[in-house]
Amino acid sequence: MLKQPEAAAMLKPSETVVYKFFFIYYKNMEIIIFGNELLRQKAEPVKDFNRELKTFLENFLNTMRKEKGIGLAGPQVGFMKRIFAVQTEKDVPLVFINPSIVETSQEMVKYEEGCLSIPKVWAEITRPETVRVQAWNERGRPFTLEAEGILARAVLHEYDHLEGILFIDRLSELKRNKLIAKFEKIRALGYADTVCGKP
Ligand code: NI
Repeated sequence: MLKQPEAAAMLKPSETVVYKFFFIYYKNMEIIIFGNELLRQKAEPVKDFNRELKTFLENFLNTMRKEKGIGLAGPQVGFMKRIFAVQTEKDVPLVFINPSIVETSQEMVKYEEGCLSIPKVWAEITRPETVRVQAWNERGRPFTLEAEGILARAVLHEYDHLEGILFIDRLSELKRNKLIAKFEKIRALGYADTVCGKP
């Protein structure tokens, strides 16, 4: 076996660098939870596609992945700008900046929804089946997307966040109050997994 200094001498400088510094650090973003007034405010348009926005997006997308969300909106991390991301299974994340909903289908569908800002509760919500959305991507390029299924659902849910609307607002008052009561119970128990019906 080689002694330490000899082993080190066998490495080219570039290899040493790879061994020592091959780490990527992300800033952890805290998800804002139901009850915080920021979730009720309307987000402002993004004006500059600058370096700050790029850095924000790296951390933002990483937070979404870590929390296993299929979507995340700026206000959910206290960033009051019109920006959200969606990542349905297998797909790469799609970033929507200053989005506008161009068209929605007349056909409505029911689908079970949850939200990282109201953890551990779910409810069936009725929304349009398809949506056409126009937005700018992370490189500042405009695009239009026609979505259906879970992607349409995620786009509409995240868009609502930019308007200060939460999925529970789309329930009847009775159902909403029941869900809030359930959530408050779970919150009081510290989000214990044992009280949650789903993983
Ligand atoms: Ni949400």
